Parts: sequence; structure tokens; C-alpha cells
Amino acid sequence: MTDDIHALDEEAFFDEVYTFQHWFDSVEGYLHDTRFGRKHPTSEVPSEGRREALISTLCNYCVGETAALEASSGLVVIAPNRALKVFLATQAADEARHLEVFYRRLAELGVHDPEAEIPKRASASLLEFKRSLLELVDARDWDAAIFAQNVVLESMEFTTFGTHMRRTDDATADMLARILRDERRHIGFGETQLGRRLHADPVLKARLSRVRARLDPLVLASFTESLEALGVARGDRPELAKDYLQTVGRLGVE
Ligand SMILES: [Fe+2]
Ligand SMILES: [Fe+2]
Repeated sequence: MTDDIHALDEEAFFDEVYTFQHWFDSVEGYLHDTRFGRKHPTSEVPSEGRREALISTLCNYCVGETAALEASSGLVVIAPNRALKVFLATQAADEARHLEVFYRRLAELGVHDPEAEIPKRASASLLEFKRSLLELVDARDWDAAIFAQNVVLESMEFTTFGTHMRRTDDATADMLARILRDERRHIGFGETQLGRRLHADPVLKARLSRVRARLDPLVLASFTESLEALGVARGDRPELAKDYLQTVGRLGVE
């Protein structure tokens, strides 16, 4: 491992940070000595009302994670070079882990058949988002699919998980804190891949703005449902939606 990766030129930098080695060095810092993504595995189960709400929330997280697992796996095929393929393979591994730990938490909450439970509780707008993302991957539209997955979906998850973490039981919070570390890496990838090119390419910017216009209402609708299930007061929700909009807006895609 190079001591100071920021001293490398751009190509060498990506050769270093988009490797399984770099991924392993990163995740080891927060997953070492954990089981199913938690340091102190307790099977703490919240009271009945909160348990129901938590099950619905986790079922929706499973939809988002399945979307990211399938999309990042599909993006490996269309990625333009080896370094990007390797990074997306590490992301697919992260997303598979997220799905696995959510399933484990659901089992602790008494859900023994998540495959049956998830469709009953999944948000229609989130399912629609998942379909749209996978269509972009199927159409081999690299820029739009990276934007939809690594910027839009990741920003939504980042805001939702962060909010949830601050108002839940210790077991769920511990699991979410470690997932967030992965999601931050995925957003960074999306911003790096698109940021500089968007700056120099108004046509790309206009095209991604149209993608955003289609996806934002779906994200905001599922976001409202998640915040409601988490018991976030109506008055606090616009502020959190603004966090999401600002995170996506950092790239200048309005
Ligand atoms: Fe994830
Ligand atoms: Fe992710």
C-alpha cells in the first residue's frame, strides 16, 4: 500500500483506491471483530409498536439494497475499464452484506420469511425507483445508471440511515453506522466519476437533469414514507429532504 495515495497522479490514484486491497483495508477498520455487521451482537427487540415500524423500515431498506446489489453487479459488465469493474465488484460485495445484515435483523424481530414479507411492506415509489435504475443498467447507460445508483439512491440512503441511526435501538444503530461507512464510499465514487465530466459537458448535465427530474419524485415520496415510519415530526421532514436535495445538487445537476 502506498503511504500517501493523494500524492499519486490521477490514473495511479484510481489504480490504488479502486482495488480490493484498498477496500479490504477500509472495511477492516470498522468490520473487524463484528458478526453480521455488529460489534456487540444483542438481539434487542423493541416494543410491539416500534417493532412493527422497524420491520417495515427494514423491508424497504432491503428493496434499496437489492436494487444496489443487482445494479452494481450489472454495472460491472458495462464499466469502461478494469479499475471501475473492480470497484463495482467491491460495491456489489458491500450491498450483498447490507442485505444480509438487514435479513439477520429481520429474523431477530421475528420475520422468518423476508422474501414474502418485503413485497407486502415495500413502498410503491421505491419499487418504481428500483425498476427505473435496473432499466438504465439494462440499457447500458453508464452515466445515467451511475448517477441514479451512486448519487441519487446512495444520497437517499445516506440521509435516511443517518436519521434512523439517531433514533433507534443500539443493535440497529450499530448495524446502520457500519453500513453508512460503506455508503459514503459509494457516493464518493459516483461524485468522482461524474463530477469533472459534468463540469465540462453541458449535454451530459442536461441529460442527467432529465433523469433526476424523473427520479426525484420517487425518492422524495419514499423518503416521506420512511421518515413517517421513523416517527420524524412533520416539521422536521423538509429539512431532511433538503439534505438529500443538497447532496445530489453538489454535482450541479439541477
Ligand atoms: Fe447499501
Ligand atoms: Fe451503497
